[in-house]
Amino acid sequence: MQNLFKASSLVSAEDRAYFAGQKGAVLWFTGLSGSGKSTIAALAERLLVESGKTVCLLDGDNLRLGLNADLDFSEAGRAENIRRTAHAAALFAQSGGLVLACTISPLAAHRQTARQICFEKNIAFAEVYVKSTLEVCIERDVKGLYKKALAGEIKDFTGIDAPYEEPQAAELILDTQKLTARRAARLVVDYIETLNELEAMMATAIDAALAAGQKIREVYRSDFEVEYKKDKSPLTLADTAANDIICKILREKYPDFPILSEETQDNKVRLESDGCFIVDPLDGTKEFVKKNDEFTVNIAFAYHGKSIMGVVYAPALGQLYYAAQGLGAFFVQDHDGLEDKISQKISVSSRRENLIVMASRSHSDAALEALLEKNKAKIGQTLTAGSSLKGCLIARGQADVYYRTGLTCEWDTAAMQCLVEQAGGIFLQGDGSPMRYNRENTLNEKGFFILNHIDNRFD
Ligand code: ADX
Repeated sequence: MQNLFKASSLVSAEDRAYFAGQKGAVLWFTGLSGSGKSTIAALAERLLVESGKTVCLLDGDNLRLGLNADLDFSEAGRAENIRRTAHAAALFAQSGGLVLACTISPLAAHRQTARQICFEKNIAFAEVYVKSTLEVCIERDVKGLYKKALAGEIKDFTGIDAPYEEPQAAELILDTQKLTARRAARLVVDYIETLNELEAMMATAIDAALAAGQKIREVYRSDFEVEYKKDKSPLTLADTAANDIICKILREKYPDFPILSEETQDNKVRLESDGCFIVDPLDGTKEFVKKNDEFTVNIAFAYHGKSIMGVVYAPALGQLYYAAQGLGAFFVQDHDGLEDKISQKISVSSRRENLIVMASRSHSDAALEALLEKNKAKIGQTLTAGSSLKGCLIARGQADVYYRTGLTCEWDTAAMQCLVEQAGGIFLQGDGSPMRYNRENTLNEKGFFILNHIDNRFD
């Protein structure tokens, strides 16, 4: 790595997208050999090319006949195969292409490597899990390889005598037992179209959050009345008025997507939609009532269960955070209005010791206290902040860790999760599994934690 100097380009990603009329992205297909990755990707490629898109299909078998011909199927061979394929995919995506990369990528670490390579280059990345049982793949055995592997003629064959770790964090799951290959390919194309929409969608969500914030500030400065809901949480005119403003703006622009909001009766029709807005018009009503400024407007968009766009606005602090998959996470500060202010791209800190831990003002319990006590050697400082600002501060690198054991709801976490992830951080449920959204039960029952880096997980 010595004596090397990175050359720069005269074409920004924005210019390229503008002139080429499309933005690069990597769709990373993973699944057992014979699960249908190549078939679905080839059909998706055809659909995309027919609609005028520039597409590049990188198929594992084909790459192993050329670029990766020197690699075997050992762990090291596979890791290098993934690393090279991800870099090749990133190069095509950087030049504006839509890349469909199909490799088994059997380990979570492989998929994480590919994701990280794209993340560092600001390339939208989505993991597509082509799901099929081993039994079905063995039965189909299109290439006759399972027969050979079962007879011991091929060693280290994925699923037989080499592992396949089922994806936990896939953006899109294509279950080949439930979907035809054509339908699956259509879902891939829809996903790409949604990624292209995200920038405009994020701009709409920001408009909605700022408009709601203005109304919230008006109420905040007045002598407002506080009602108490059935669960004894406070409700003010600011909650309902902000909700109306946000829902009106989102519905006008995106009538096809349902809205799950803390302040609207839940309509389960949302469960049938691939995409759903998730809104908390005023998170931290307690902070609002106490007049300590730390309340936020939260708007997120979940697609196939993942939060891929998030806006958090703290109207009394004049702080706006926003993020979308493949675009990154941003922050802008202004107390007097947000026009003409330059946003700053944010990322999590790299701290590995003397960690700055976020604590909730009003929510703690014995389990959380015990966890913090057990890990106190890692903790340098503890900070408090209201509502979703805790996650935002981690996304901005001003804090590193936040554990929450108590109950929250989807609208409390969806926007902050996207921000944290797009800033390079980790957001998982209390048991370490990924948090998915637009669920039947909107309670986040397992708790959650946020980290600047997975190495800082508390034990
Ligand atoms: S990966 O594990 O490194 O991601 P990759 O997708 O490139 O694998 O290649 C998988 C293809 O190589 C399979 O679809 C199959 O045709 C062929 N193959 C040959 N040997 C093996 C093996 N030991 N395990 C899995 N696939 C193999």
